[in-house]
Amino acid sequence: MARRTTAAQLVAKSQGGERIVCLTSYDAPTAGLVEAAGADLVLVGDSVGNVVLGFPDTRAVSLDMMIHHTQAVMRGTRSVHVCADLPFGSYQVSPSEAKRNVSRLVAETGCQSVKLEGGQPWYGTVAAIRELGVDVMGHLGHTPQSLGLRPSRAPWTPAERDGIIEEARGLEAAGCFAIVLEIVPTQVAKLVTEAVSVPTIGIGSGPHCGGQVLVLHDILGMGPALPHARRYGEIGEAIRRAAAEYAEDVRACRFPGDEHGFD
Ligand code: KIV
Repeated sequence: MARRTTAAQLVAKSQGGERIVCLTSYDAPTAGLVEAAGADLVLVGDSVGNVVLGFPDTRAVSLDMMIHHTQAVMRGTRSVHVCADLPFGSYQVSPSEAKRNVSRLVAETGCQSVKLEGGQPWYGTVAAIRELGVDVMGHLGHTPQSLGLRPSRAPWTPAERDGIIEEARGLEAAGCFAIVLEIVPTQVAKLVTEAVSVPTIGIGSGPHCGGQVLVLHDILGMGPALPHARRYGEIGEAIRRAAAEYAEDVRACRFPGDEHGFD
């Protein structure tokens, strides 16, 4: 079996000046395609809740759901680094409960790292997870599990700017190997990126981060157009059109054709 890219290799790549390419995936076939496309990192985001499971937000996602989807992503890939989100409630209660849940997630899936949202309140939790020998990615800025804790695109105050720089430093000191910056103003993201030696992975945070992450379905055109994402395909429309053509063919008795049956 091919050895998977480690967190240390991703850090080295970033420190060597290369951008880290990350996309989300939630199932085996699309994760395999993302790996084949050359992504450095596959994130099994808890965005699985709103992107594919039909929940209004990420808070309904359970540890069992994350295990189920991370197992699928691991089965569909061979060598790419797979990071799994810690779902809401799985790490917030106490560092020891976080350790128990991370142990389960890693033991049952084989993923390389986990991600948690938030800064200062979770330094101890990051350090506790690192005691297990599991790599941790941080996540600052817009943190969807804390619904509405910070308005996404309102101007940032100097105190907020200094606060996120401080928290990024704190997460690095606690042991994070990378930090997602979600919907952070471009110049603030640049300052954060310059303040830490681990890669920042931006989403809606401008071009100065050490890497970029997007939700796969957003680049495939399977949801509404978003200001921070570029649509590289129109797969949603392709699916709708294919399903509509199939429906027309069935109703008009054009499918199945003779070639689709057997005697
Ligand atoms: O859950 C997710 O997909 C994420 C990314 C948007 C960073 O956390």
